[in-house]
Amino acid sequence: MDSPRRAAASIDWTDLPVVVTGGAGFLGSVLVDRLRRASAKVVAPRRRDYDLTNMDAATRLLADTSPAVVFHLAAAVGGIGANRANPGRFFYENMAMGLNVVEAARRYGQLQKLVIVGTTCAYPGEASVPLREADLWDGYPEPTNAPYGVAKRALLVMAQGYRQQYGLHAVYLILANLYGPGDNFDPETSHVIPALIKKCVDAVEQGAGEVTAWGDGSPTREFLYVDDAARGIVLAAERYDSPEPINLGTGEEISIRELLTLIADLTGFRGRIVWDRAMPGGQRRRRLDTSLATTVLDFRAQVPLAGGLRETIERYRQRRITQIEAPRPLDRSR
Ligand SMILES: NC(=O)c1ccc[n+]([C@@H]2O[C@H](COP(=O)([O-])OP(=O)(O)OC[C@H]3O[C@@H](n4cnc5c(N)ncnc54)[C@H](OP(=O)(O)O)[C@@H]3O)[C@@H](O)[C@H]2O)c1
Repeated sequence: MDSPRRAAASIDWTDLPVVVTGGAGFLGSVLVDRLRRASAKVVAPRRRDYDLTNMDAATRLLADTSPAVVFHLAAAVGGIGANRANPGRFFYENMAMGLNVVEAARRYGQLQKLVIVGTTCAYPGEASVPLREADLWDGYPEPTNAPYGVAKRALLVMAQGYRQQYGLHAVYLILANLYGPGDNFDPETSHVIPALIKKCVDAVEQGAGEVTAWGDGSPTREFLYVDDAARGIVLAAERYDSPEPINLGTGEEISIRELLTLIADLTGFRGRIVWDRAMPGGQRRRRLDTSLATTVLDFRAQVPLAGGLRETIERYRQRRITQIEAPRPLDRSR
């Protein structure tokens, strides 16, 4: 296998046709903004127009848009609750979308680069920390997110096989947990940061004396601000062209207990925190070894956690005000 290397030449984004699958999502919309600011011609297909679990739709997408670069972000994602509720759907949809997009890219045959976004959930549940790219296959992922993680992990193998057999310029990134202003605050599907922000802000507004969080607070996570993630993804398209995956993260870990203390502080929540130990806390520790991204992409995360959390909290508060102030549609049924 090749050793990790930078791409021979960078990409001139000016007027370059680019597709971002999942480009209307949380990470996708930030990536699309960044690429448009670089003057790329970006298409962000929606599921209703191109359902990528369908091979014909994936083929049609590339035929309709003639991209030079594809970023594959479309996915079925969510926090521990959503993963536990949808193990079958998460496996099928992530597997099917990946299979179809990579195969469609091969048939299309004109891509300069296919950037596939993977996840830290693909790492073995018991892997030693920091999580190194070389350790990806040293065990099975943590059970609460294994179907999602295995589906994502399998795409790495597909990308490597297609590079070897068909010369597809596919690169694969393993992203830490993301957070940021456009995050999903729906309690049914949200990840830990938006879930805890919502709980604390809502508790302050309602004068509630306590918030409840899942697990015992001891697991650790690494959180990457969404703008940093988008910047790293673009750098990978520009600078990387090798089969080995690259971790993208901050290289810093924080326990969920410390995270909640920080969010409580930033939101002004002064009440009691109750840990619901009957609920799962997920993998014990997660922190990526980010040295490869530093060496190969010259990538370093720039947004400190407290600053990113402030932005995220502020956006959540603004959204709530907008929702509360928005005029309710007239009920004509009465
Ligand atoms: N969020 C995180 O913490 C995190 C961490 C590590 C890695 N990642 C990875 O980053 C990527 C983006 O995650 P995100 O949090 O931004 O997700 P998101 O906000 O839920 O967005 C997912 C996007 O995927 C699209 N999609 C879903 N099913 C589709 C289908 N069948 N056909 C076509 N499009 C479909 C959706 O399109 P519509 O809007 O049209 O429905 C949506 O735009 C994913 O690959 C995820 O695995 C995320």
